Amino acid sequence: MGEQVAILGAGVMGETLLSGLLRAGWSASDVVITERRPERARELADRYAVAVRENSEAAAAADTVVLVVKPQDIAGLLEEISASIRPGTLIVCIAAGISTAFVEDRLPYDVAVVRVMPNTAALVDQGMAAMSPGKHCDAAHLARARAMLEATGKVVEVAEYHQDAITAISGSGPAYIFYVVEAMIEAGVLLGLARSTSTELVVQTLYGAATMLKETGEHPTVLREQVSSPAGTTMAALRQLDDHKVRAAFLTAMEAARDRSRELSSGQA
Ligand SMILES: NC(=O)c1ccc[n+]([C@@H]2O[C@H](COP(=O)([O-])OP(=O)(O)OC[C@H]3O[C@@H](n4cnc5c(N)ncnc54)[C@H](OP(=O)(O)O)[C@@H]3O)[C@@H](O)[C@H]2O)c1
Repeated sequence: MGEQVAILGAGVMGETLLSGLLRAGWSASDVVITERRPERARELADRYAVAVRENSEAAAAADTVVLVVKPQDIAGLLEEISASIRPGTLIVCIAAGISTAFVEDRLPYDVAVVRVMPNTAALVDQGMAAMSPGKHCDAAHLARARAMLEATGKVVEVAEYHQDAITAISGSGPAYIFYVVEAMIEAGVLLGLARSTSTELVVQTLYGAATMLKETGEHPTVLREQVSSPAGTTMAALRQLDDHKVRAAFLTAMEAARDRSRELSSGQA
């Protein structure tokens, strides 16, 4: 039997983590889930052959407890499980805006807590997760959290005060990319291409560009310059993007996301 993981709250993100762990080779007997709605619990038990438990029972038996409920449900969940947590249990909290101190204050002992901001690309095992250690967390705890999170993509460690910036960049990031993709598809349609053709061109172009960035390790400026010949077509387009202050808009957009993340974390609506 390997390390026992309890996923408390198996909604979108909880199921993503569960399926990623199983795809990465974890045994179904090492993972248990909990869910508020019995029909959802049954659906997941049937689909993945994992055990479904009550929160306190799952928390008591696990080496690692992953909190994957909505931020507003975290306090209630911690109240439910706090008496069942054993010394040495690792808590991984995946709720946006919930600090490690918030979790630590509601649990007994000096429990190790890791805070994580994942993103939706975890669904296809290409996630980007940033984890921050709480005050009782050592290198071994972080290594355990990393081993679990790497089932659904890449993991970086950051100081907790960077979590609002992380939320703005990689947490919300896929949505900005989808937005750019939508705009480029519309442009293709404007230029007379069939929508399906335009979509295929844009999606593969995005995939190709992302693969180039990842595989060459080159700076994006270098890659962009390679396709920007003097007085050419790409420069004509890029000039328009500069004229419309698109780069500046990205900077202020992500500052706005960072600020909104701070507001939500501090409990302002
Ligand atoms: N989805 C993302 O891309 C993403 C990205 C970054 C961070 N996150 C974080 O991940 C967390 C989960 O998000 P999500 O999108 O997966 O939400 P979700 O789909 O609503 O999943 C949460 C699940 O937990 C259940 N639940 C609530 N309280 C519970 C309790 N006390 N015991 C057992 N189960 C309980 C919910 O049941 P009900 O349906 O009955 O409420 C729901 O099925 C959030 O805190 C969010 O900030 C998500």
